[in-house]
Amino acid sequence: MSYQIAVLAGDGIGPEVMAEARKVLSAVEERFELAIEYSEYDIGGAAIDNHGCPLPDVTLKGCEASDAILFGSVGGPKWEHLPPNDQPERGALLPLRGHFELFCNMRPAKLHSGLEHMSPLRSDISSKGFDVLCVRELTGGIYFGKPKGRQGEGENEEAFDTMRYSRKEITRIAKIAFEAAQGRRNKVTSVDKANVLACSVLWREVVEEVAKDFPDVELEHIYIDNATMQLLRRPNEFDVMLCSNLFGDIISDEIAMLTGSMGLLSSVSMNSKGFGLYEPAGGSAPDIAGQGIANPVAQILSAALLLRHSLKLEDAAAAIEAAVGKALSDGYLTGELLPADERSNAKTTSQMGDYIAQVIREGA
Ligand code: NAD
Ligand code: IPM
Ligand code: MN
Repeated sequence: MSYQIAVLAGDGIGPEVMAEARKVLSAVEERFELAIEYSEYDIGGAAIDNHGCPLPDVTLKGCEASDAILFGSVGGPKWEHLPPNDQPERGALLPLRGHFELFCNMRPAKLHSGLEHMSPLRSDISSKGFDVLCVRELTGGIYFGKPKGRQGEGENEEAFDTMRYSRKEITRIAKIAFEAAQGRRNKVTSVDKANVLACSVLWREVVEEVAKDFPDVELEHIYIDNATMQLLRRPNEFDVMLCSNLFGDIISDEIAMLTGSMGLLSSVSMNSKGFGLYEPAGGSAPDIAGQGIANPVAQILSAALLLRHSLKLEDAAAAIEAAVGKALSDGYLTGELLPADERSNAKTTSQMGDYIAQVIREGA
């Protein structure tokens, strides 16, 4: 069986961390005797520079012809002067999510035992560990609602976005959250702002209806502001967090940092046919790009999710996850995971990739 993956490295640290994911994929290919073909395409700022637009046709067609997309990150100061819809985020990433109807985004954040010191949480809280899955609706809500824009002039000029959700959109993402909870600790926390937003009132109603088909799963509702706070106070009491598009964006950065770094959180974005795009939850990190110090783990774990969900190669996915776990517990860490006075021991982006690939080759 041979597989085809579209590789879209993008901007900033994207190409740096993608190179390490490719190393690790080569190692699993060797160990598990897999045949994976990769096609690289420009996306985002890189595509603006080379093709004059952030999502060229050739990139879109290449993705359509692939079994899955491995995505890096897009955006950066170089392209921020462009009209908003021509910028990498709104001109490439969001249209790609929309084009393939990747409504289901899952971001798993786990604080492993033995790695509590990486968390910025107080030790009595981090010592309990946590394992949270953020299930985020990705193609609706305020990101995609119409109308969106600006009008008027002078001090009367205004800008507007529309938050909009249909029953259908809420139902399909809620089902996924409940199904995911059944394979975990049987709890769904639905995040909303039902004390203010009409969308959230409908969200709650629909989630309650879906919950009836999952009597074994406990459901609770929480307001977004309280959720961000309770995650700092008692993260171990959360299992699946079901979020609309914007709230999931916020929650996912928070849970990433609770495990120690933005550079640890992977993600899968899927459509109803099981086609997926896999990317780190973090961005192009312009502040550290080009220095060889970015943490490649989120990109590497995104490759593991791709093997599991799109290619159904569970053993290969698990081997990557185990190797990442070993690297971290061996103290093989990039600088942002270390206290300032220990950063002289930091590993580079490529040292991390080499080590993880080596662990996989050795079959440890
Ligand atoms: P960011 O996630 O790029 O960076 C936030 C902070 O986290 C920075 O200090 C950065 O150095 C750090 N960080 C992120 N990933 C890291 C890694 N792998 N290793 C070590 N540190 C890491 O968010 P931002 O600064 O708000 O955005 C920068 C650009 O990236 C913007 O143009 C934004 O729109 C874009 N962005 C793209 C994606 C994507 O392509 N999926 C996601 C988020 C942000
Ligand atoms: C993410 C990013 C994107 C989002 C941006 C870059 C459009 O922050 O994947 O979390 O807001 O979804
Ligand atoms: Mn985000």
